[in-house]
Amino acid sequence: MYQNRNILKGNILTIVKYKMPNQNIDSLIQDIRKDFPILKTGVIYFDNAATSQRPKPVIESLKEFMENENANINRSVHTLSEKAMLHFNESRKIIADFINAEENEIVFTKNATEAFNLLAYTIKEIIPKGKDEIILSEMEHHSNLVPWQEFAKRYNFKLKFIKITKDFELDIEDYKTKLSDKTAIVSITHISNVLGTINPVKEIVELAKKHNVITIIDASQSAPNLKINVKNLDCDFLIFSCHKVLGPTGVGTLYGKYELLKKLPPFNFGGGMIKSVTFEKAEYLDPPEKFEAGTQNIGEVIASAEAIKYLNKIGIKNVEEISSYLYNYAVENLKKIENIEIYNPGKGKSVDIISFNLKGIHCHDVASILNEDKIAIRAGHHCAMPLMKVLKVNGVCRVSFSVFNTREEIDHLIISLKKCQEVFNK
Ligand SMILES: Cc1ncc(COP(=O)(O)O)c(C=O)c1O
Repeated sequence: MYQNRNILKGNILTIVKYKMPNQNIDSLIQDIRKDFPILKTGVIYFDNAATSQRPKPVIESLKEFMENENANINRSVHTLSEKAMLHFNESRKIIADFINAEENEIVFTKNATEAFNLLAYTIKEIIPKGKDEIILSEMEHHSNLVPWQEFAKRYNFKLKFIKITKDFELDIEDYKTKLSDKTAIVSITHISNVLGTINPVKEIVELAKKHNVITIIDASQSAPNLKINVKNLDCDFLIFSCHKVLGPTGVGTLYGKYELLKKLPPFNFGGGMIKSVTFEKAEYLDPPEKFEAGTQNIGEVIASAEAIKYLNKIGIKNVEEISSYLYNYAVENLKKIENIEIYNPGKGKSVDIISFNLKGIHCHDVASILNEDKIAIRAGHHCAMPLMKVLKVNGVCRVSFSVFNTREEIDHLIISLKKCQEVFNK
């Protein structure tokens, strides 16, 4: 007996019960697909790690805001402004709940990259004296690398990189040898945007705490797929972009423990972040507003909360099940292709990213051939050039799934990849 019941309410999927046996995943995915208008174009979209697609409630929310609610927040007493402010604040609460944070611990930025820059420009103030090392890993996205390179140049800090094993996992023993009382910051990705590796971030944080280290988690690829609980992780900061979580572009989320956000200086200065100003000086608001200078992406923040509500309706447990279902099916079938190199731990955990190369064929050529078959994948260095060096490749092909992808689409991918080999190996 299936325990889940999907009700299509005004064409928007409502999941009543979350528990479901495996064979029902396909029908759940079919229901979810009805909520993604872009799929009507016929695209097989496997580039969700770059940016996800938006379901109807997100699109409708943006439209509703533009048509009926548009006003600036924090500035006026008129009804529209008050309504927008209320909606904006409610959205912050929904996004905070999503990762089990408090409302005032969520700072909105433009994207994840800006959140990393915010930290890299302000964090020096809270680093205890005598510490001058930052630990990253060999699998970081440029967004969690370049801001720290600049920081290191500015303050004469040293960057250290945790190695990856031959199975494309973080080498925790290597981490332990690099961690010391000189370590100021450990900033690590939760899921690699290239390898799909799920890193043991809780263990990484626990080890760091023994040396009084500030911990930052890049949740850009995990927020769309895994249940995140910042209280349980006990990390100091956690970052993700809402456009990868079915939301619109223009909204990054920086979580920070409140007492730390209080101690950080502001990043940008101007309107919206001040308590009072004279010609000589200014006094700043408390977090999160202290970090949100200028007009925010109000409609996009509200639509981001709709995206989170949509994911919550599917149920994060179901999201995880769909990810691992698609992932396992894809890995199993990709492995059957001759002359393929897969860069993935392949442990069957719930991840949604698989990178590979077809031997002797440039990844851009593979992506172009797939594009002819309306299959959208990403090829190249994936903003992880140093990792490409470690893997000894110029680039890789990457497929990344979302809740609306199907096994049939993966079958098409496999057929197209074989076609590609026929074209290039003639
Ligand atoms: C792991 C990881 N970190 C950071 C980012 C940067 O996200 P954004 O471009 O939204 O700032 C990405 C984007 O691909 C990512 O995959």
